[in-house]
Amino acid sequence: MSQTITFFLGGEELRVQGISPATTLLDFLREHRGRTGTKEGCNEGDCGACTVLLAHVEGPKNDLVYRAVNACITLLPAVHGHWVVSVEDLGQAPDRLHPVQDAMFRRHGSQCGFCTPGFVMSLAAMHLDGAPVEQAETYIAGNLCRCTGYGPILAAAGDSVAAPEDPAFGAKVRAAKDWLIARRADDDGLFYEHGDERYDAPVTLDALLRLRQDHPEATLVAGTTELGLWLNKDLQDFPHLISPTRVDALTGVDFRPDGTLVIGGAATYEQAWPKLSQVIPEGQDWFERFASMQIRQQATIGGNIVNASPIGDGPPLFLALNAEVELASTRGSRVVPLTDFFTGYKQTELA
Ligand SMILES: Cc1cc2nc3c(=O)[nH]c(=O)nc-3n(C[C@H](O)[C@H](O)[C@H](O)COP(=O)(O)OP(=O)(O)OC[C@H]3O[C@@H](n4cnc5c(N)ncnc54)[C@H](O)[C@@H]3O)c2cc1C
Ligand code: FES
Ligand code: FES
Repeated sequence: MSQTITFFLGGEELRVQGISPATTLLDFLREHRGRTGTKEGCNEGDCGACTVLLAHVEGPKNDLVYRAVNACITLLPAVHGHWVVSVEDLGQAPDRLHPVQDAMFRRHGSQCGFCTPGFVMSLAAMHLDGAPVEQAETYIAGNLCRCTGYGPILAAAGDSVAAPEDPAFGAKVRAAKDWLIARRADDDGLFYEHGDERYDAPVTLDALLRLRQDHPEATLVAGTTELGLWLNKDLQDFPHLISPTRVDALTGVDFRPDGTLVIGGAATYEQAWPKLSQVIPEGQDWFERFASMQIRQQATIGGNIVNASPIGDGPPLFLALNAEVELASTRGSRVVPLTDFFTGYKQTELA
């Protein structure tokens, strides 16, 4: 059980204590590590200027998986156990550019430059994923540029997609992967305190339900794509946050033998879509219009449903699919049709 936020950044393990768990990754990078390449634009997940990559290993072969996320609405405790890659970890000007930076330079993909690190990180995610050039718009849909125009940036995406990996970055990947594999074995959750603030991220469902029972005043936080705005824009305080995102039982997405798709309450839209799309293949356009890749990599389906917003895109889809939700506590669990789960404007069976 870790009481220190531990992650890999810039070739070393960082063990962080003594700062608020409500600190965003963006503020940490800029103000605590001097990594000012990651920019603050909107501070609410819209513009992509703060895009960074979070990497972890998963599966029996320890596959390295990258997620492009908005650092402005990612809380520092959420990167516990990850490799954080910011633009400083790619190449360095003038002669050690990463292939995507080099392509942006050659294609004149930057004018004022404010959006550029964010685009570079999204294109780096595409390059690392080995995605085809046809997906370039999907990868950069969460990045806004007010002055260059997207043509040169898409051209840079096309140029860089088949470029070989930068050897210097490859060495960083190997070091980070070794660290991630070593850490994976002893991930037994994060229980972080700072003054009167607390952030708990247990790894078992039992521990999560016990925390909920013992601390009914605490707030659940998953992808932070709603809660991050309540923090940054409404300046709300959340003295005790509990995260379900490290609980394996809540992040799985699997078909039962009878063909029913079961989506863990903390599974993100990007995690769920490969199987959800088998249930509703005609939903591809719907999926690609849901926010942006950065948001979909963070946003959980559970958070979207519990938020019960009348403008949420998930609930209409799941209502049309006659979905049910399973509600669990230490007293047991019950299954409720989604039609009965929503009880009013932003009201649910939970409250
Ligand atoms: C830039 C941007 C674009 C967006 N675009 C869209 C869009 O196109 N369509 C759309 O529908 N939404 C959109 N959203 C809203 C948001 O991404 C979704 O509602 C998202 O699914 C919320 O999930 P989360 O995991 O981030 O929730 P969080 O922010 O972590 O939590 C939201 C709420 O849900 C509760 N909660 C979370 N998980 C659980 C759980 N397992 N059990 C009980 N309560 C829980 C939290 O306590 C909190 O009250 C957007 C948001 C941003 C910032
Ligand atoms: S600063 Fe705009 S998305 Fe983070
Ligand atoms: S280059 Fe100025 S905002 Fe994109």
